[in-house]
Amino acid sequence: MPMKFKIIKDNNPIMKKKSLPVDLPLSQEDRDTLDWMLDYLKKSQDEDYAKKHNIRPGIGLAAIQIGLLKRMFVIYYGEGEDLVQYQLVNPKIIEYSLRKCALKDGEGCLSVDSEHPGYAHRYYKIKLKAFDALTNQEVVITARGFDAIVLQHEYDHLDGLFFYDRIDKNKPNVQLMNEELI
Ligand code: NI
Repeated sequence: MPMKFKIIKDNNPIMKKKSLPVDLPLSQEDRDTLDWMLDYLKKSQDEDYAKKHNIRPGIGLAAIQIGLLKRMFVIYYGEGEDLVQYQLVNPKIIEYSLRKCALKDGEGCLSVDSEHPGYAHRYYKIKLKAFDALTNQEVVITARGFDAIVLQHEYDHLDGLFFYDRIDKNKPNVQLMNEELI
């Protein structure tokens, strides 16, 4: 694939912008971009490749992280029956649980190099609607726990938010009453 993008970091002001809806049906250019993004995640999880190209392993990537203000992101993690992979376009979270959750070791992001310890508070369960370019259909995804956190992390990028915006600066390590640590 000839296109080559660079991962943009959080000090770039574009990262704080709100991404714009993507035209459907998807253009070939957008499909190629989503393929490049998914391929990037796969390669980033290959130790040799990551070391050689000095990149970090990632499980999610939003278009804004390669400089495109488009409401789309890709996800890739797990293996075999547990493989989770999507190329989601114009996602919308249509249901949230009252229950919360957070990763006990904190979240990471390909665009964030500095340390931001603390619990990034998330909804434990969400229902998300989107067009999935990978399967070429409208999907409604019900996700819980870790899966829900990953989707919310990427979704936040479309609105210019980082995981550390979900950490309470005054009480970074205080668990909420209705929150499960994962
Ligand atoms: Ni991120």
